[in-house]
Amino acid sequence: MIRVRLPQVPEGFLGRVAPLPARLCPTVEDCLASGTLLLEGAGVGSARLDAECLLAHVLGWPRWRLVADQRRRLSQEEFGRYLSLLQRREWREPLAYLVGQREFWSLDFAVSPGVLIPRPETETLVEAALAVLGEAHPQPPVIVDLCTGTGAIAIALAREIPGATVIATDISRRAIRIARGNAETHGVADRVTFLRGDLWRALNGHVAADGAGLVVSNPPYVPSGALSTLMPEVQWEPRRALDGGADGLRFHREIIAGAPRVLRAGGVLLLEIGGDQGGAVSSLLEAGGGFEAPRILRDLAGRDRVVAAQRRTNSKMKN
Ligand SMILES: C[S@@+](CC[C@H](N)C(=O)[O-])C[C@H]1O[C@@H](n2cnc3c(N)ncnc32)[C@H](O)[C@@H]1O
Repeated sequence: MIRVRLPQVPEGFLGRVAPLPARLCPTVEDCLASGTLLLEGAGVGSARLDAECLLAHVLGWPRWRLVADQRRRLSQEEFGRYLSLLQRREWREPLAYLVGQREFWSLDFAVSPGVLIPRPETETLVEAALAVLGEAHPQPPVIVDLCTGTGAIAIALAREIPGATVIATDISRRAIRIARGNAETHGVADRVTFLRGDLWRALNGHVAADGAGLVVSNPPYVPSGALSTLMPEVQWEPRRALDGGADGLRFHREIIAGAPRVLRAGGVLLLEIGGDQGGAVSSLLEAGGGFEAPRILRDLAGRDRVVAAQRRTNSKMKN
C-alpha cells in the first residue's frame, strides 16, 4: 500500500489562502474513504471508525448522519480541521484526546491530554462496587476513590447511588480540574468532593477514621520496565497515571496499608489490577492482617481485573 503523509497544516494557514471553489472541496464520502486509507497505513486498527468519529466531530454531527449526507461537501475550514485531526491520529494520538471525550458507564466524560482516558475494563470495578453496596448498608455510604483521573469511577458511583457521598483524590491538578467539570456535567458535583494530593495524604481529615463504607481505586499499575512496550496510543498518556514502580504494585501497597484506618469494620476495598497481579495483591492483603480473604473478579474479557477485600470486624493492623 502507498502510504500518504498529509502535509502539516499550520495554525491560521487556512484563513489566509483564497477559498477553494465549493465544487473542489471534498465530500463526506471522499473524506471518509481517504481518511480510512491514511489511518490504515498508519496501523490504526479501527481506521474507518476513527475517520468517521473525527469527521462527525468536525461537522458537529451524530455519526449516523455521515451516511445520510455523504454527498455534502465540506467547507475549506472544515476540511482543514479534519486534515489536522487526521494527521494527529496518524501519529497515533488517542482518538479520545482528539475529540475531547470518552464514554464510560454510558456517560460522556471530558478528557484531555495529561489525563488518563477511562478504560471499559474499569467498569468491572464499578459493577463490583454496586454489588457490594447493593448488600444492606446502614446509612448512605461514604465512598473514597483514590487516583480518580477524570472522575469516571467516582461519578458513575455517585450517579448510581443517589444517597452516596464520594471523596475522590488525585495528585494531578489537571485531572482534578477535568474531574470537577465532569461531576458538574453529570449533576453530582454536590456529592463528589475532589481533593488534590498524594494518595491517603490528600484526604487530610475529610474522612473520619472508620468513616468509609467503600474504598475504590484504579491506581497506576504498569511495571516501569513495561511502559515502553505499551501501544503507541498509550505513550501519549501521562506516565504518572500508568507507572506503578518496579513491580507495578507500589500504589497497591500504600493503599492496602492505609485502608484499614479509613474503612469501617465490614467495609470493602476494591482495587483494579493488571491481569497477572491478582496473586501478588491478594498476598499483600493477607499479609496486612486487616482483611478477610480477598476475592479476584474478572473483566468481560475473562482477565483478572479487580481484587475485593472486606475489612475484618476485629482487625489487628500491622504497621
Ligand atoms: C490509572 S489512572 C486511573 C484514573 C481513573 N481512576 C480511571 O479509572 O480512569 C491513575 C491515576 O492516579 C493518579 N496518581 C498518580 N500518582 C498518584 C498519587 N501519588 N496520588 C494520587 N493520585 C495519583 C494519576 O494522576 C491518574 O489520574
